[in-house]
Amino acid sequence: MSTTTALTLADLDLFAHGAPWGVFDELRATPGLHWSTEESPNHGFWSVMRYHDIVRVLRDPDTFTSTKFTNLEEVDPGMQDQRRSLLETDGLRHRALRRMLQGQFTPQAVAKYETFLRGITAKTLDAALAKKEFDFVDEVSADFPIRVLARLLGVPDSDTGQLIDWGNRMVGNTDPEHADLLIDSAESEEYKHVPFRSPAAIEVYEYGKHLAAERRGKGGTDLVTLLADGEPSDGQKLTEHEFNTNFLLLVVAGNETTRHTITHTMKNLMANPEQLDILRNDPSLIPWAVEEFLRYASPVYHFRRTATKDVEFSGTQIAEGDKVVVWFASGNRDDAVFDEPYRFDVTRNPNEHMSFGRGGPHMCLGNALARIELRIMFEDLLTRDVTLAPAGDVDFLRSNFVHGIKRMPVRVV
Ligand code: HEM
Repeated sequence: MSTTTALTLADLDLFAHGAPWGVFDELRATPGLHWSTEESPNHGFWSVMRYHDIVRVLRDPDTFTSTKFTNLEEVDPGMQDQRRSLLETDGLRHRALRRMLQGQFTPQAVAKYETFLRGITAKTLDAALAKKEFDFVDEVSADFPIRVLARLLGVPDSDTGQLIDWGNRMVGNTDPEHADLLIDSAESEEYKHVPFRSPAAIEVYEYGKHLAAERRGKGGTDLVTLLADGEPSDGQKLTEHEFNTNFLLLVVAGNETTRHTITHTMKNLMANPEQLDILRNDPSLIPWAVEEFLRYASPVYHFRRTATKDVEFSGTQIAEGDKVVVWFASGNRDDAVFDEPYRFDVTRNPNEHMSFGRGGPHMCLGNALARIELRIMFEDLLTRDVTLAPAGDVDFLRSNFVHGIKRMPVRVV
């Protein structure tokens, strides 16, 4: 059997107070993977905590697949297929779908949004800063990423509030503040074929269907048209399920993640005024500092894979079918890779963080978009003649999936 420690991630209450860095450190200090038992029968998981171990898992999809859902064993295979987006697809189909989309997400493709991004950033910040005291999440970080996605998807600005609500209800569904947590177990059965087991997913599907019907065959250049009409390189158009799950993925993946990175970064800059000064004195450093913003925020705690065979890994015997969870947030604090990992250092170089994954077929498709959004937001904010200071307690999202902040009161000083 493997090496384990007494303390496991499963013991923690959904990280209600932010990342449990001490636990990550302790688990990383012990070699091997760490087993956590979950309540339901047969459903424990291995945690991979060290940077280099995580990279090995990500880069070996033959052994650690994204396709199998062992936690959905009770769901019949047809239903499992209904839940597969790009993230849960491997092999040829994954490559064909990803290739079809990736042209929209290259650094060159996203660079054409620069003027649009500068415009909405300036508007967002003008409105927020005029209030003098405000919630940074509500006024700045929540609205901005979703408005960018709305532009890419070609949906009206008036629907962004609805998209934010759907994202909160799905991704934040372990937080009591978001109503979908309250669905009882009977209802949860009913929704087990949709992502996050959330009724909000059905609403997103309906919304996507309506958009696709409007766009199909009209030759548009937006992402909805691409999903509806596009030809993946294997010649098979998207099935209805593939359209649904990938539309939902695009709505969700770039929303919460970017939002929380912006909020964490503001929090980190307020807590480290000397780092803020470095960027104020030389804003040309901001594009590079974005990498530290991402490392330090670690907005996605983990993703999971499933072992396709019995395998010995870092001294741990893993059985076929075991769940294997890679903790990006832990890898981002691994001192085998990052010098003084708990120092927020905007000049850190090199900075090969794993906030977008690190190599492997599922590495974040939207990374160039997220990077340009972060760069523009902080280029604007840090070159204004204003300073923000905390004006109350930070309220973390109760989640062990997303390192999120729900509220962060700030004031202009
Ligand atoms: C995948 C993080 C922004 C779209 C991922 C993965 C991570 C991640 C950790 C999985 C990597 C893996 O398993 O190897 C982030 C973070 C973001 C961000 C931290 C912002 C700070 C975005 C944006 C989009 C996006 C803006 C655009 C819509 C996707 C998609 C995938 C993905 C489509 C699935 C790729 C695949 O399975 O092939 N992201 N993401 N993400 N992300 Fe992002």
